Amino acid sequence: MGKILVTGGAGFIGSHTVVELQNAGYEVVVADNLSNASEKALERAAAITGKKADFYKVDIRDREGLGKIFAEHKIDAVIHFAGLKAVGESVRKPWEYYDNNITGTLTLVDVMRTNGCKNIIFSSSATVYGTPAFVPITEECPKGQCTNPYGWTKSMLEQILSDIQKADNEWNVILLRYFNPIGAHKSGTMGEDPSGIPNNLMPYITQVAIGKLPELGIFGDDYDTPDGTGVRDYIHVMDLAEGHVKALAKIKEKAGLKIYNLGTGQGYSVLDIVHNFEEASGVKIKYSIKERRPGDIAQCYADASLAKKELGWEAKYGIKEMCEDSWRWQKNNPNGYND
Ligand code: NAD
Ligand code: WQD
Repeated sequence: MGKILVTGGAGFIGSHTVVELQNAGYEVVVADNLSNASEKALERAAAITGKKADFYKVDIRDREGLGKIFAEHKIDAVIHFAGLKAVGESVRKPWEYYDNNITGTLTLVDVMRTNGCKNIIFSSSATVYGTPAFVPITEECPKGQCTNPYGWTKSMLEQILSDIQKADNEWNVILLRYFNPIGAHKSGTMGEDPSGIPNNLMPYITQVAIGKLPELGIFGDDYDTPDGTGVRDYIHVMDLAEGHVKALAKIKEKAGLKIYNLGTGQGYSVLDIVHNFEEASGVKIKYSIKERRPGDIAQCYADASLAKKELGWEAKYGIKEMCEDSWRWQKNNPNGYND
C-alpha cells in the first residue's frame, strides 16, 4: 500500500488527522509551509502514535517542491487541508487568499495527475451554503452566496475539483463540508493554536478562561434563535479526523465524486457553549453582548445522515467532551505550541 499525503498536516485539523491515520495503520507524509502552524504539532502527534510522519516544509504553490515528494514516495491519496482560513483577513487580502487557496490547489492537483495520483479528499466548509436555504442542512441544500473571499475559495474549489472529476472519471474526489471544529486530542498535548487574537468562538473562550483576554464579546443576541445568539454545529476535531479515515476507505471503493457534511446534527447557541464550557472547566466566563458581526448567520447545523449511511461515520463526542478537551489543551499549554 502506498502512502497518504496530508497537505496542511501541521495545522489544527490536519495534525489530529495525522494521529488518526497513523492509528489506522496508514503511512503519512506531511506537506506544510508552516504559515499557520508549528512543526511541534507533528512532534506531539509522533509522541502519541509512536510513528513519525515524513515532513516536508513546502508551499503547495511550489510545483518542484511537491514533485520531490511524489518522486520520493508512492502516494496513493492526498488529504488536502492546506489553505488560509481567516474570514476577516480574507476580506482585506482577497488576492492572497485566492492565490494561496486556488493557485495552491490547482498546482497540487496538476502535480498529482502528472504522478498518476487521482485520489483527493478536500477540506470544504459549511460556509459554501451561505445563508442556508433550510436547516438542518443536507448536502442537497443549494450552495449560496458566500460573504467573504475565504468562503468563495471553498465554493470555487468544490466546483473546480468536481469539474476535474467529471472530465476524467479516474479521479476520486471527496468534498468534506466541515461544520464548526473545536476540541483537542484527549492527551492535552495537541490542539488549536491560533496566532494573535482568535477569531473563532472556542479559542476565544479558552483564552478568556486562562486570563489572556478580559472578556468574551457575544456578537448579537437578537437573532431568530431560542436565546437570540447564533447557533452552530460544533464538532470534535477527533471526530472530524475519524471522518477522513472513513473517507479514505470510500476512496478505495472508487468513490467518483462525493460530498459529505461532517457535523453532529446538533445546534448550540453561543450562550449554550459558554455555559457548557463553564461547567466543564469550573471557570466563569465573563462576557458582554456586542453588535452582530458582519457576515454572520443566525443558525447553521448539519443533517449528517449521508455520511452515516455511506461512510459509516458519525460523531461520537458530545459538547461536554468538546469543552473539556479544548480546556485541557489550553490549560496545559497557555501559549499553545510555544510552551
Ligand atoms: P490551520 O490553519 O490550522 O491549517 C491549515 C494548514 O495549512 C496550516 O498548517 C498552514 O500552515 C498550512 N498552509 C496554508 N497555506 C499553505 C500553503 N500554501 N502551502 C502549504 N501549507 C499551507 O487550519 P485548520 O483549522 O486545520 O483547517 C484545515 C482546513 O480545513 C483548511 O482548508 C480550512 O479552510 C478548512 N476548514 C476549517 C474549518 C475551521 O473552522 N477550522 C472549517 C471548515 C473548513
Ligand atoms: C461561532 C459563533 C459568532 C467569536 C467560521 C467560518 C466558517 C468555518 C468555521 C472555515 C457565531 C459567535 C464568535 C466571538 C461570538 N471556517 N462568536 N464571539 O463564524 O460559525 O464559522 O469558522 O471554514 O467558514 O465563518 O465560527 O467560531 O467564528 O463563531 O459571539 O468572539 O460564535 O457570532 O455565532 P463561524 P466562529
